[in-house]
This record gives sequence, structure tokens and C-alpha cells, in this order.
Amino acid sequence: MGVLVLGVPRPQYETGLETYMKITFSAITLPKRGAIAVLVAKDRKLLATAKALDKATGGALTRAMSAGRFKGRKDEFLELLAPPRVPNSRVLLVGIGDPKALKSLDLQNIGGAIVGQLGKAGETEAAVAVDTVDGDQAAGAASAGHLAYGARLAAYRFDRYKTKKKPNAKPTLAKLRILADGATAAREVFAPLDRVAAGVCMTRTLVSEPANVIFPKSLVAEAKALQSLGVKVRALGVKEMRRLGMGALLGVGQGSTNESQLLVLEWNGLSAGEGNKDVERPLAFVGKGVTFDSGGISIKPAAGMEDMKWDMGGAGVVIGLFCALAGRRAKVNAVGVCGLVENMPSGAAQRPGDIVTSMSGQTIEVLNTDAEGRLVLADALWYAQDTFAPRLVIDLATLTGAIIVALGKEHAGLFSNDDELAARLSAAGQSVGEPVWRMPLGEAYDKAIDSEAADMKNIGNRWAGSITAAQFLQRFVKAGTPWAHLDIAGVTWSSKAKATVPKGGTGFGVRLLDRLVKDHYEA
Ligand code: BES
Ligand code: MN
Ligand code: ZN
Repeated sequence: MGVLVLGVPRPQYETGLETYMKITFSAITLPKRGAIAVLVAKDRKLLATAKALDKATGGALTRAMSAGRFKGRKDEFLELLAPPRVPNSRVLLVGIGDPKALKSLDLQNIGGAIVGQLGKAGETEAAVAVDTVDGDQAAGAASAGHLAYGARLAAYRFDRYKTKKKPNAKPTLAKLRILADGATAAREVFAPLDRVAAGVCMTRTLVSEPANVIFPKSLVAEAKALQSLGVKVRALGVKEMRRLGMGALLGVGQGSTNESQLLVLEWNGLSAGEGNKDVERPLAFVGKGVTFDSGGISIKPAAGMEDMKWDMGGAGVVIGLFCALAGRRAKVNAVGVCGLVENMPSGAAQRPGDIVTSMSGQTIEVLNTDAEGRLVLADALWYAQDTFAPRLVIDLATLTGAIIVALGKEHAGLFSNDDELAARLSAAGQSVGEPVWRMPLGEAYDKAIDSEAADMKNIGNRWAGSITAAQFLQRFVKAGTPWAHLDIAGVTWSSKAKATVPKGGTGFGVRLLDRLVKDHYEA
């Protein structure tokens, strides 16, 4: 199935539902061709397959190690080309440090780094031997599954517009075979992780696409690809939103010729009666989907404005999360609500000083049209709570430049009215390598958005810009609803590749929220 955008049929791998590299699992035997990666623990201790390969090559591995500085520490690699007496093109020694200290995240990073090493080497086919340590089969299978997951995440690329890339500049690794003692068990560990990776990759693609390709209606069309996984996907247009009184969201989009949309996703992973009534209430995920943020009449400076194509990153994460949850048949009920708008200056655009009425009934004085994300979220948050009475609400938004000043590109900002939810998000972030840092909320900050003319204004004073933005959102959270806001402005796009996250859209948030759901909210 292909999704139609601008009349161009797009193959499904571009939505993340398929990927470039084929991964298979089999029992450990020395492969008859291609590259082989083997694991070496600290102090040059060869794991079983490395040992067998050393023997088969007449000690070539041992000799290569003693010729250089490779010690088997984590993040160390050593390559042997055309190793003697075996049919392989290359051997990659992969340092893993202390095997007993490896967490699943380390194995993901190792898998990603292997793909990085072999991809740029021009290999088309490779095998990685993930040996069982101390005879622990279950741990070995888990290790192999997570290594494969990291490889999958690392193999993603967004290059559909690079029509002239030279063949020798292209990554070539097409087949990766994971060799493990418990290949079947490893495959079972990998299967759901692979679905999460598909979600991450879908988000990356949506975030990386330019704003002439991804605008509100085309983003809805992309999300409809999830129908094949059993997700209910619908969208409200301007007329319906006007009827619902969504003046805050509509004001942002009124300067654009691209019609605003409210995207609504539903995943019902619980069959009726499977959980008690409370568990059946859905989790709500709300995303900022500003498909381009020019700033509007309060226009942004030209330098760097192109970055604002990824101002729909929050919505991108919500869509990718549903790809992950539905893909792995998560036993949970969840709804996604994304406010999709394009923030443009024009004769029809909203002006500074305009006062809009939100769906909640609260009025907002728009003092800066570039503080548009909170306006979009105000109505999306209200709609989500009003329509679905969710157990909790988590919103994601590339909301403020100020969060980048505060936390840089390492942590997302976390704001919450609920200590338990905040703690769960922090823990989930730690375990998947998408860390969040909790920021304060409080009455004194809330005062900063009181307005002379309306119930509130959409900017605070000079200080604590991320916090006053979060206070604004909190005014649209109903009493008693656990709520968290993730300001992902600093983590949605990366200009530096990491082991499992190539440059470009990162997909930050998909793994985090998938893990949160898995650890706490599944039946
Ligand atoms: N989308 C931006 C925030 C942003 C900035 C995201 C840089 C990613 C990178 C948001 O809509 C915005 O313009 N925020 C303003 C708020 C200000 C006008 C109160 C900002 O952060 O400067
Ligand atoms: Mn803005
Ligand atoms: Zn914005």
C-alpha cells in the first residue's frame, strides 16, 4: 500500500512501516561469506565465536589485537580485512567492556555502532555473533534482540530527495544476520521492538519531510497509513472546529492557505471487559503539529527559519507512537489528538493584540503570534479531555526556544501536575535513552500570563519562557486529570549522529512513551 501525497505514490517504507535493512536470526555457525562481527570483552577476552574465529584464522584476531590499542572496551572497534583461511570479507572486533554490566540500552548502542561501522565499509551482508555469557540463554536471547533493535534504529535514513548520491557514498548493508544460541527466543524479543522501531522511523520521516510535502491535510493522509494496523484515524476540518469553538487553534491557522486539521487517532488494544472500567479509560497523547512556523505576523528572522518545518514534531511523535502501540498490539486503550496548522503571515493572518476564545471558553490575548504552539495545544488538550475523559494526558510539543537554553539537546523538558506520572516518565526516559528533566510549575509563574484585556495572554515576561508556556497549557487541564507536558524543542532534531539516532528527525519520545505504556498501563 502506498500513501498519496501531492499525487506522488510513496512506498510504505517511507512511513516507517518497512525499512531498508533485512534482519534475520539463526544459530551460531561461522558464516560462509560477507562480514562477521564478533564480541570481545575487556582485556581482549574473546567471546566464544571470536575464539572460534581466531582459531579458524590461525590466530589472526589475537595478532591483530596485539598490533594496536584495541583492548575490548565499550565503543572500541578493530577491523581485519580479508582474514586468512576463512571465506569472509572482513572481521569486525567489537569491544563490549564487562559483559555482565551491559544493559539493554548498551546492546542497542552496540548494534547501532556495528551498522555504522559496516555500512560505511561498503559491505552488503554481515553477521553478528551474540554469544551467550555464563550459559544464560534467556539473557543471551534478550541481548541479541536488543542488539538487532539498535541495528534497526541505526539503519534508518532519510534520503528520498538525494537523486545524485554517488554509489560509493551510499550505505550498502542490506542483510544483517544475528547469530545467537537461542535464535527463536531472540526473534521473539525482537518482534515487538521492531514494531517500536517502525514507529520511531515513521516519526523521523514525518519530521524530516519539508513543509511543502507535510502540511495539515497531507499529514492526516500519512497518519491514515496506520489504519492498516487497526488504528482509527479521523480528522476534523475548519468547519467542524469552528462549530466546537476552537478559536485558539483556528486563529493560528487562519493566515495559511493550507486548511487546519485536528487529527484524532484511536487505538483500542483492550477488548471490552478485559480490564476494569478505570483501565478501559484511554490514555491521551496530544501533539503540537505546526507544519511550518514562520512566526506569523510576529515573523521570525530568516536565518534558521527552515528549522520550523519540524515544528510538527509533537504530532509526529504521537503518530509514530500509535504505529508502535498498534504494531505490537499493546494491551491498552489510547487516543491521540494532534492540532495541525501552518503559522503564516498574510492578509488573513491573526494580529498581535487579537483576542480569541478557546474551546474551554477561556479568552486569550495573542500578544505574539509566534507563541502559537500553546494556542494550538489549548484547544487540542481541551478536545481530548472533553471527548474521551482520559485517565491521563501527556502532550508533546516543540514549544519553546527557552527549553534549549535551559537543557540543551540532551534532555526534554518535563512539566507535570502529578509526581507519580513525572517519576514514571523520568524512569522510562532513562531506560530507553530518551532522558527528560523535570522543571517546576507554580502560582508565581502562572501570574505572568494574566492579561489586562482577557483571561490570559499568550506570552509571559522575559523570564522562564518554557515554564510560563507550560503554565499556559495547565490552564487547559481539567482539575483531577494527571497531566504531563514534554517540551521537545531541543531533542526533536539532531545535527550530530549518535549510535542509534542518525542526523535529522530523531523520533525522540516514541520509545519513551511506548516504554511508559508498557511498564505501567498495559493489561
Ligand atoms: N516553535 C517555536 C519554538 C522552537 C524554537 C522550537 C526553536 C524549536 C527550535 C515556538 O513556536 C516559538 O516560536 N516560541 C517562541 C515563544 C516566544 C514568542 C514567547 C520562542 O521560543 O522564542
Ligand atoms: Mn512560534
Ligand atoms: Zn512553534
